[in-house]
Amino acid sequence: MVVFLFYSPAMQNNTPSRDTFSGKFGIIAAAAGSAIGLGNIWRFPYVLGENGGGAFLLVYLLFVIMIGVPVMISELLIGRKAQLNVFGAFKKLAPGKPWYLIGVMGVGAAFLILAFYAVVAGWTLQYVYFSVTNALDGNTPAQMIQVFEGVQATKGWSVFWTLLFMIGTAYIVSSGIEKGIEKYTKILMPLLVLIILILDVRAVTLDGAMEGLNFLFNPDFSKLNSDVILEALGQAFFSLSIGMGVIVTYGSYIKKNESLGSTALSVSLADTLIAVLAGVAIFPAAFAFGMAPNQGPGLVFITLPNIFNQMTGGYIFGLLFFMLLSIAALTSSISLLEVVVAYFTEELKLRRKQATWIAAGIMSLLAILCAFSDSTFGAFDYISSNILLPVGGFLVVVFVGWIMEKNSPRLEIEADGRKARYYKGFQFVIKFLAPIAIALVFLNGLGWI
Ligand code: TRP
Repeated sequence: MVVFLFYSPAMQNNTPSRDTFSGKFGIIAAAAGSAIGLGNIWRFPYVLGENGGGAFLLVYLLFVIMIGVPVMISELLIGRKAQLNVFGAFKKLAPGKPWYLIGVMGVGAAFLILAFYAVVAGWTLQYVYFSVTNALDGNTPAQMIQVFEGVQATKGWSVFWTLLFMIGTAYIVSSGIEKGIEKYTKILMPLLVLIILILDVRAVTLDGAMEGLNFLFNPDFSKLNSDVILEALGQAFFSLSIGMGVIVTYGSYIKKNESLGSTALSVSLADTLIAVLAGVAIFPAAFAFGMAPNQGPGLVFITLPNIFNQMTGGYIFGLLFFMLLSIAALTSSISLLEVVVAYFTEELKLRRKQATWIAAGIMSLLAILCAFSDSTFGAFDYISSNILLPVGGFLVVVFVGWIMEKNSPRLEIEADGRKARYYKGFQFVIKFLAPIAIALVFLNGLGWI
């Protein structure tokens, strides 16, 4: 549901005929389409599971509110003020200065993220296939683990499904059937939420579910350390799609009479809610079926099929779930590929089709590397989420807090004609709190201080 926002002829020449979102729902649905994806349902639960549970959740929520929302407002206001894509925006707002390098870093991050993202999306497609053929029916929890290990070990199939996903993403980005996608995702995403809610009900009524809920909601602060805190920050950036300029581009399509603050808040809330709901489905099931919560990247793929096996209508719910998850992944991957394509077309002057297939080709090679090597997969994930995105977010808030003309952030935020009563607080956060917090978490997490 994302692409059509990025690609409009107006992007290339910044004419007054620039496209805008039709209204509030359009903005939120579009930004949420990028934000809500595998990050919420695959990555959030497994990173939380590896990092001790409830304490991670608390730190995560704190980061979403204290850092995520202000960074998102900052990205939105940069985009709307400049009326340009991320590179153009920084060039226009800080002429002759190297701030546009934030955009270049974003492009690098997009390559790395989509490389491992496509592998996970490939697993999701394989699970759609398993669901269609009912291959998981009657499996014991131990067999579910074996199935996932098989998926990872069978490189040929992994590569096949990963490439299929990349081709789908590239096809959509290159051919502009986006409006159709938007129409469908507006129906399909709420359906995904509905299925997760049904799964939640089934999961919390399983015998032994309590232990899982405790793990998720009962913070054990002895589990916190500098790595865990950096993981929470990286997950917040990854899940909200911030720190690399996607949201700057969205901001440029938002009309002046819309509120940036409430847009950022709604998107962040929706994103966080879905992550938590995914956790509520996964952890009670993991504990009820005697599976470790720190399984790593396979967590969602080994726990949920057990629930489907225990449900009336499990066949259809399982099938729908993995299909919808694939679509959620697709709407996010489109936004990632589009960042690169916008760069290639606007800065390197490639034609759109060329740009798309070149970018997707390089990403596919990187994705194959990820499919073959767990350590490459892990490294791409770590470098993008825990390094590039926080550094990008840091630079964005410093830019808005210290570099933009004194009153211009406020004027942009209040362009909708309403007074932003939170502005003083926002200003304090982006000038001091967010940059200092990001820097501390980041340097501490890397062991540099
Ligand atoms: N946020 C998406 C998810 O949770 C992934 C994603 C899409 C992303 N665009 C991004 C992550 C930009 C970081 C930056 O699945």
